[in-house]
Amino acid sequence: MNEAGSPKPSRWPGRVCYLLTILATAAATYGVVALLMNIRERKEEAKEHYLKLVNLTEDTIDPAEWGKNFPRQYDSYLRTAENTSRRHGGSEAISKLEDDPRLVRIFAGYPFSVDYRERRGHAFMLEDQDNTERVKKFKQPGACLHCHASLIPAYRTAGGGDVMKGFELVCAMPLKDARKLVDHPVACIDCHDPQSLQLRVTRPGFLNGIKEFAKHVAAELAKDDAKKPEDRNPPAPHLTSIHQWAKHHNRGDTKDDYDVNALATRQELRSFVCGQCHVEYYFKGDKKTVTYPWHKGLKVEQIESYYDEQNFKDYIHGETGAAVLKAQHPEFEMWNQGVHARSGVSCADCHMPYQREGAIKVSDHQVRSPLLNIARACQTCHRYPEAELKSRALAIQSRNKALMDRAETALVELQDALKAAKEKSADAAAVKEAQALQRKALWRVDFVNSENSLGFHAPQEAARILGEAIDYARQGQIKMLGGSGN
Ligand code: HEC
Ligand code: HEC
Ligand code: HEC
Ligand code: HEC
Ligand code: HEC
Repeated sequence: MNEAGSPKPSRWPGRVCYLLTILATAAATYGVVALLMNIRERKEEAKEHYLKLVNLTEDTIDPAEWGKNFPRQYDSYLRTAENTSRRHGGSEAISKLEDDPRLVRIFAGYPFSVDYRERRGHAFMLEDQDNTERVKKFKQPGACLHCHASLIPAYRTAGGGDVMKGFELVCAMPLKDARKLVDHPVACIDCHDPQSLQLRVTRPGFLNGIKEFAKHVAAELAKDDAKKPEDRNPPAPHLTSIHQWAKHHNRGDTKDDYDVNALATRQELRSFVCGQCHVEYYFKGDKKTVTYPWHKGLKVEQIESYYDEQNFKDYIHGETGAAVLKAQHPEFEMWNQGVHARSGVSCADCHMPYQREGAIKVSDHQVRSPLLNIARACQTCHRYPEAELKSRALAIQSRNKALMDRAETALVELQDALKAAKEKSADAAAVKEAQALQRKALWRVDFVNSENSLGFHAPQEAARILGEAIDYARQGQIKMLGGSGN
């Protein structure tokens, strides 16, 4: 029996192993499936299951109402009131003019030479505008509110149901009258559809501006067709929906303008919602209509050439008499020139990264510097230690700052030369040329200075612009020193 059964003991464990393997596999499979189902359920939960306590409409401006349905996003939104200033301490809005007195001379003759501060969190946008000397000491139009308040319902009311008409009317009003129509800084309704919660763009300035930019893209693509493939350089190729529209437009498949809310991809909207306000703008004509100058493209010299064509100036320079431009926070334009945009990385990826709350993914609505949140803002893509990432970003910023210092110094020295030449009543034609060079240099210095990432959004582009600024400033200075019209 032992002899005959001798194979048994050795076969027995074999069978046990076999059975166990089957059981283990089944259990593992069950486990994986259960886990997948669980994850999926939770994802669905995260997406759809919220307690709809309040019915939100196009008139629900108050974020507290939205907060009843979406408490997580509301909580982080409220934290934009926390002091996050990275370059300076204290909860005061810091003066840029005290930090860098050259700016007082660069903006001579313009309200910015009187009061110009570091930006703060979104919660402050309305009160900081109320309190700036640029508003208290100077008359401003209702157009100022376009990016500092939640005001689409006010536009709708003013326009008798027509938002675009109301927008134009409110822009033209005196600011102190228009101010009575609004009471909230940027709110949920400015970026979200109240029913579907989809991202959307509401600011008329952006809706109009991006249409013009799309037309520019179409015109450039048409020119590209005639070029050799290696010579083609289409504008902003990462904005795929605009490129698609442009191709349809050029083929005659569509007569409609580019409609951002109908056509933009979700990833594009994750930047476009910010591009509603973080952009260069001007007030067009006597009606002071907020206009984004993207008709000839988003780059610094393309915007300049649009302004030149419009014969536009922001102010007559107080020291030199030159007709000059003031740039305003062109974050969206600069981001478009950088490697992150080209790689499909949106503003929200860095400034509103996801945070997990249990199985739920929530976008951090405490919009702030990503350097305060490197783990979530950068390390999802870059697998380097936090300190390494921070030092790379700071290295970009300090190189940018060093070049900007040189550009500002060059610009102020051009102003000195122009002032001295005018006192000696130098050749009028030479003065005019130097004034034109001042306009170019100032526009470029300010484009980089007023862009709030200190070069990070597009380091190479910022350096290119500052290089040109230094060159234009020194060319102008040489013209004045030489005293000839050459
Ligand atoms: C196109 C959108 C837009 C319009 C129009 C606009 N702003 Fe702003 N404003 C911003 C953004 C974005 C910031 C934050 C970035 C910055 O400070 O550079 C800002 C910052 C500010 C600040 C705080 C920092 C500073 O500059 O001292 C004040 C004050 C201000 N704006 C006043 C005004 C006034 C006055 C007007 C009208 C003349 C105006 N804004 C029109 C978008 C806009
Ligand atoms: C400046 C624009 C902006 C404002 C203002 C804003 N959001 Fe969002 N919100 C976003 C972006 C961007 C996302 C990411 C959406 C995506 O990727 O589809 C988002 C996502 C969400 C989501 C989807 C889940 C998530 O967290 O990703 C909810 C819910 C939400 N927001 C609620 C709110 C509420 C409530 C408010 C007001 C208290 C608000 N949002 C204000 C831009 C904004
Ligand atoms: C309705 C216009 C508006 C929209 C939309 C908007 N911003 Fe702002 N943002 C402002 C203004 C104005 C300020 C300056 C407020 C101040 O200084 O009082 C500002 C300030 C900021 C700051 C500085 C915060 C700090 O702590 O210093 C960051 C970062 C920022 N915005 C990023 C974004 C991003 C990213 C988006 C899109 C998700 C966005 N903003 C959407 C108008 C806007
Ligand atoms: C790849 C990440 C990334 C993307 C994408 C990005 N930013 Fe930034 N942004 C940064 C970093 C890093 C800074 C520098 C922050 C600092 O100096 O503390 C910055 C600074 C800013 C500031 C000044 C904030 C402050 O606290 O000083 C604003 C405003 C801003 N970005 C808006 C935008 C907008 C609008 C977009 C999209 C059009 C955008 N950013 C896209 C990383 C990004
Ligand atoms: C969604 C992904 C993503 C996020 C988030 C992101 N990056 Fe990047 N980053 C990229 C990609 C893609 C490139 C392009 C280079 C490449 O292909 O490796 C890049 C390039 C860079 C570069 C080199 C290019 C340059 O502009 O000089 C630096 C530095 C950088 N990232 C830093 C950061 C920092 C700091 C943050 C957080 C504030 C950040 N990135 C967030 C994807 C990301």
